[in-house]
Amino acid sequence: MKQICVIGVGYVGLVTAACFADLGNRVIALDINEERVEGLKRGVMPIYEPGLKEVVDHNARSGRLSFTTSYAEGLSGTQFVFIAVGTPSGVDGEADLRYVETVARTIAETMTSPLIIVNKSTVPVGTGDWVADIVKSHQPKPIPFAVVSCPEFLREGSAIGDFTQPHRTVLGSLDRDAAEKVAQLHLPLRAPIVITDLRTAEMIKYASNAFLATKISFINEIANICEALGADVKEVAIGMGYDARIGKAFLDAGLGYGGSCFPKDVKALAYMAAEKGRHPQLLRAVMDINDDRRRTAILHLQDMVGDFRGKLIGLLGLSFKPNTDDMRDAPSITLAQKLLAGGATVRAYDPVAMDVARGLLPQVEMMSDPYTLAEGCDALMVVTEWNEFKQLDLEKIKSLMRRPVIFDGRNIYDPEDMTAMGFSYRGLGRGYNGASDK
Ligand code: NAD
Ligand code: UGA
Repeated sequence: MKQICVIGVGYVGLVTAACFADLGNRVIALDINEERVEGLKRGVMPIYEPGLKEVVDHNARSGRLSFTTSYAEGLSGTQFVFIAVGTPSGVDGEADLRYVETVARTIAETMTSPLIIVNKSTVPVGTGDWVADIVKSHQPKPIPFAVVSCPEFLREGSAIGDFTQPHRTVLGSLDRDAAEKVAQLHLPLRAPIVITDLRTAEMIKYASNAFLATKISFINEIANICEALGADVKEVAIGMGYDARIGKAFLDAGLGYGGSCFPKDVKALAYMAAEKGRHPQLLRAVMDINDDRRRTAILHLQDMVGDFRGKLIGLLGLSFKPNTDDMRDAPSITLAQKLLAGGATVRAYDPVAMDVARGLLPQVEMMSDPYTLAEGCDALMVVTEWNEFKQLDLEKIKSLMRRPVIFDGRNIYDPEDMTAMGFSYRGLGRGYNGASDK
């Protein structure tokens, strides 16, 4: 049985720890957040992620998974230590590596036997070398170690499935033997394993996220053009997606990408490029188009309801995407702030994110369900495409609203059905709203 320590029990770390334990390894998950660790010892999940609690509980009961705040305990007898701490955006868009730095230093000061340090956090190209330097320079006495980059590709909301059935595992190291050992840990996942050098592995992660963000901005650009020319972006995406070279995935036009990763990672890649004197024009356009989506949504709604002053607007959904309570860079935050600034009263409903959202949007009243939300509203905005919003009793919603206006930021409803039902309805990129206006 291999022994692994995972440092950071957030979205990536907790899933990694639970899934590696489920594969039969002995895993100690470590975090400096005592409340998180104490909660986990009692079976309380710090995040909402479907299926996570079941895997954590099962493996904690079996004794394969345990939690600690102590580096001495976490590193004792461990062969592999995974770093999965946050790498948020710094002031200029660069990745802020302070948490990675602290972890590297603490590992160096605590380790008592040889270690393979595996970095799962998304870090700028060159960070692996930097981590190796930090560890080397902070060890009280030299103990052998290797650094391997193993970027994570899971998505929130489907993290367990993504981790256990990955498209590929990417490993990068200057120490081929260490990379092979980390590859062994991943063999049960039966995915292709790409072994390369440290910097290339780090770059694969940024290039992958930037490409997916580019796909989203591309379809949002097409959505804009569809509005002007009278075409329907949803059908355009279906028609494009059948081409295997294009693929169906990541062609949903809407409010743009949010969350803790695409916004920060595209920014960080552009920063890395600019720092080296390159001009990352495409990445800048991707970010520009994405920023415009939230403004475009507000302009549409304004066009539909007029001046926001004195209006009651309901937000259907708050989290940055369905099946998570993550509110990091969620479009709902920008939209609510813009509506409030325009003089509207804003209320919201989300199946799981309201507890997190309350602290971020204190002026937004949280409602108990979509129907209570709709009562007396001048307009509803679909912000997150939760499945439960696709099955609402829309006749009832209409009867509860002051004015039957729906702006659908995720294109979950059919424009013709909505109009037939008597709603004033708009999606994004669905030609009828654009061409007829111009
Ligand atoms: P998170 O904020 O959810 O969790 C980070 C955890 O690290 C927190 O619990 C924090 O308390 C802990 N931590 C901070 N400093 C620590 C220290 N010195 N010692 C021990 N623990 C410490 O972060 P996340 O969303 O899991 O992201 C982690 C990394 O993985 C980021 O680089 C991110 O870009 C990347 N990533 C995230 C996702 C995702 O879906 N969230 C997917 C792929 C990659
Ligand atoms: C994304 C990547 O999909 C993961 O592979 C990666 O590991 C992760 O970032 C990361 O590096 O952290 P995640 O942010 O959890 O995962 O969620 P996605 O499903 O990729 O959605 C990201 C954003 O794009 C959401 O705001 C979503 O609404 C938006 N999106 C996605 C669209 O607007 N259109 C689409 O077609 C797809």
